[in-house]
Amino acid sequence: TRVWHLQQDEESNRQDIEEAAACLKEGKTVAFPTETVYGLGADARNTDAVAKIFTAKGRPSDNPLIVHIASTTQLLQLVKPWGELADRLMKRFWPGALTIVLPVKEGAVSALVTAGLDTLGVRMPQHRTALRLIESSGCPVAAPSANRSGRPSPTLAAHVAEDLSGSIDGLVDDGPAGVGLESTVIEIVEGLSGEAIRILRPGGVTREELQKLGHILEESDPAGSIGPEAAPRSPGMKYRHYAPRGSVRVVDGEPKHVQAHIRRELAAASIRGERTGVLAFEEHAGRYEADLVLSCGSLSDIRSAAHGLYAALREFDTQGIELIWAEACRAEGIGAAYMNRLIKAASNQLQHV
Ligand code: TXA
Ligand code: MG
Repeated sequence: TRVWHLQQDEESNRQDIEEAAACLKEGKTVAFPTETVYGLGADARNTDAVAKIFTAKGRPSDNPLIVHIASTTQLLQLVKPWGELADRLMKRFWPGALTIVLPVKEGAVSALVTAGLDTLGVRMPQHRTALRLIESSGCPVAAPSANRSGRPSPTLAAHVAEDLSGSIDGLVDDGPAGVGLESTVIEIVEGLSGEAIRILRPGGVTREELQKLGHILEESDPAGSIGPEAAPRSPGMKYRHYAPRGSVRVVDGEPKHVQAHIRRELAAASIRGERTGVLAFEEHAGRYEADLVLSCGSLSDIRSAAHGLYAALREFDTQGIELIWAEACRAEGIGAAYMNRLIKAASNQLQHV
C-alpha cells in the first residue's frame, strides 16, 4: 500500500493528490479522508476496481456503495432527473454529510456498486482533499468507509492502515476526519401529500436540520406505505456494525441509576477475571473503576463525543478489553447518530435501568 502524507506545502500536496487520482483512474483502490470518516475509493464504473473494494473490506456483496462526486454536472451522468425536494436538499447540504438515494441511470455505474438495486446513493463530500481527488480523477468514486467490514469506521489514516494495509493500493493521509460518524443516508418517497424524506441511516446531517426542508416520514407513518412498494431500505443497516472485538452493552436511564448499574456489573466482571472497559461522558468518567475508562466528550457537547467515538472503540481493542459498558445519551441532533452506532456496536442491545 502506497501512502501519501499530505503536508503543509501546497505544491507537494498537489502532486500527491494527482498521483492518487491517477491510481483511481487506472482501476486501483485508494483510501482518502472525508469530513465524515475515511473512505476506500475506486472508479464506480470499473467492475474490477469495485470488486477490489468488496474483497479488501470483506464486505457482503448485497450491501451497495455510496458514490462520491465533486460537481452536480457529474451527477447528471449517474442518476435520472431528480425532483424538487432532492434539489433543495442538495443545494442546502452539499458539499456535506448527506447521502441521497436516487433512481440510477442504467449502466452508469458497475452493478456491484448498487448491489443490484435500481437506485444509487450519492454524496458530494465537504473535504478539500476528497473533492480535489475526485475532480482530478474525473471518476465517480465509489467509496464505503475504509474499515474491515463490521469494525468501527476509520477517523484517522492509522485506522485505515490497521485494517487494510497490504490489501489496498493507496492511502492519502490528511489527518483526522471531521464529524467522526458517517453521512446521513436518505431516500425521497412519493407520499399522498407530495415528496417526503425517509431517513435510512442517521448521520452527520441531523433530522432537525432535514426537517426544515421537507416532511420526514416516520417508520409508523401510514403515508409510508403509499410510496413505491419496493422502496429499498438501507441494506447495510442489517449487519452488526461499528463494533470493537469486545462485547458492548449500552445503558440508558437516570444518570445515577446508570452509574450504579455499571458499577455493579464492573464489580461482578472483575470477580470473574474479565478485562472491563467503560465509555463514559466526561462528567461521569471519574465514577468508574475498570481496566480502561474512556471518555470522548462531554454530555453537553455530543458533537465532540461523536468525533471521538470510533477511535475510543478501537482503543478498547488495542487494550484487549473484553466487556465494555457505554453510557447512552439523548437520541436527538447528532446524538441520534451517536446512539445508532453505539447500539449497532452492541448488536442492537440497549439496557434501560
Ligand atoms: O460518510 C459516509 O457516508 C462514508 C464516507 C466515506 O463517505 N461512507 C460510508 O459508506 O459510510 P458505507 O458503505 O460504509 O455505508 C453506506 C451505507 C450502507 O448502509 C448502505 O447500505 C447504504 O449506505 N446505501 C448505499 N447505497 C444505497 C442504496 N442505493 N439504497 C439504500 N441504501 C444504500
Ligand atoms: Mg461502513
